[in-house]
Amino acid sequence: MSKLWGGRFEGENDALFARFNESLSFDRRLWRADITGSLAYAEGLRSAGVLSAEEAQQIREGLQSIGKDIEANPTLLDKGVRDGVEDIHSFIEGELVRRVGDVGKKLHAGRSRNDQVATDVRLFTRDAINTLITHVCQVQKTLVSLADAHQDVAIPGYTHLQKAQPVLLAHHLLAYFEMLERDKERLQDALRRTNRLPLGSGALAGTNYPIDRELLCQLLHFDSITANSMDAVSDRDFVSEVIHAASLIMMHLSRLSEDFIIFASTEFGLIEMGDAVSTGSSIMPQKKNPDALELIRGKTGRVYGNLMSLLTTLKGLPLCYNKDMQEDKEPLFDTLDTVNDCLAVMSIVLQNTNIRREQAKVSANRDYLNATELADYLVHKGVPFRDAHGIAGRAVLHAVSTGQQLEEVSLDTYKTFSSLIEEDIFEALSLPAALEGKAVPGGTAPTQVKEALKRAKQLLT
Ligand code: ARG
Repeated sequence: MSKLWGGRFEGENDALFARFNESLSFDRRLWRADITGSLAYAEGLRSAGVLSAEEAQQIREGLQSIGKDIEANPTLLDKGVRDGVEDIHSFIEGELVRRVGDVGKKLHAGRSRNDQVATDVRLFTRDAINTLITHVCQVQKTLVSLADAHQDVAIPGYTHLQKAQPVLLAHHLLAYFEMLERDKERLQDALRRTNRLPLGSGALAGTNYPIDRELLCQLLHFDSITANSMDAVSDRDFVSEVIHAASLIMMHLSRLSEDFIIFASTEFGLIEMGDAVSTGSSIMPQKKNPDALELIRGKTGRVYGNLMSLLTTLKGLPLCYNKDMQEDKEPLFDTLDTVNDCLAVMSIVLQNTNIRREQAKVSANRDYLNATELADYLVHKGVPFRDAHGIAGRAVLHAVSTGQQLEEVSLDTYKTFSSLIEEDIFEALSLPAALEGKAVPGGTAPTQVKEALKRAKQLLT
């Protein structure tokens, strides 16, 4: 396969180096972006008087026919890989010349693969960000549905993985809704910096042709053109921003996975994972393992790795383009594939999570989750909180030693801890009172959680 740059060479590339150098096997994903960018560039050359209207039309038709053919038959690209074509830009240009003849050779005037690839990756990433956002919304929807269907369910809330205070399950689930909401904000913010047009920057210095970059910008629906040609061909910040935003999505999915893996254990027993997302053991017949969640947690490391890989690739590069930058694509593509899969699987997991209402109720009513209520009860009676904390702590110590829950300790015994404790202590220690008490905005009181659900639904419309 002829190269785009053979003229000054006398020898052939070494075969191993040629394979090492090629990127078509992975940058083939950019085919649509490459054709879109070239269609606009042909129009730019026409308006600059470099191409006649007829030539531009021939090029346009050639590019469109390539697009149709790849769409219908992606194995065309496999053939390009087999033939040793260097990259997607070489492939499309070679195919264009094959189809429309010499006029196809005019398309690259004033353009370099450096501004071309920068443009293609931005076009590609822009769509990819929108797809990611759609998948994040889908997980948020399934979180809201699960929360909505279990508004009455309380579970223990944990700190240090020790029982802390009761919360509504819906409140716990909506915490993840908030994390994903921030993830969407980060993606939208990255989109602003992705959506700038480098085309017209040439190899590094600009171009000798009076290309109307604003016209290209409009044709390709970018927000603005890049301001410095050297920066434009060197900048991959936007790729690392997307992988960073993706890393935080994975971190959030991983924490949710971890919560659910723990909750699904026999020891916690708060949820049961459905058969659709569990696996068994080849030896232990009783096992039902939460593999879907473990894989999501596991794949988080791989996305973090992609972020490190890209940042490290970029850190020592002198301006402007260096071939090192070809190494931006696989981390980006792998990240997008991984995160989209994980988001899709998480939606299915959430749809296949059975909440064990009875066990949740038992667990939320045991083990001194209401000790803070006892302290707060005393505060309402005028005891300074630090003293109240001490009294409640002694009551817990007593209850632990007698094997009682706090609500099982008799009023007479309570009186020995504080004479201010009355019959109404038992109401204050009840689970509904503990929940309803947390009525601050953002708290777990049922009234607040109802509002939070309403807001979440509104945000998703
Ligand atoms: N395949 C290359 C990449 O992905 C395209 C740009 C090549 N430019 C060059 N001057 N060698 O980075």
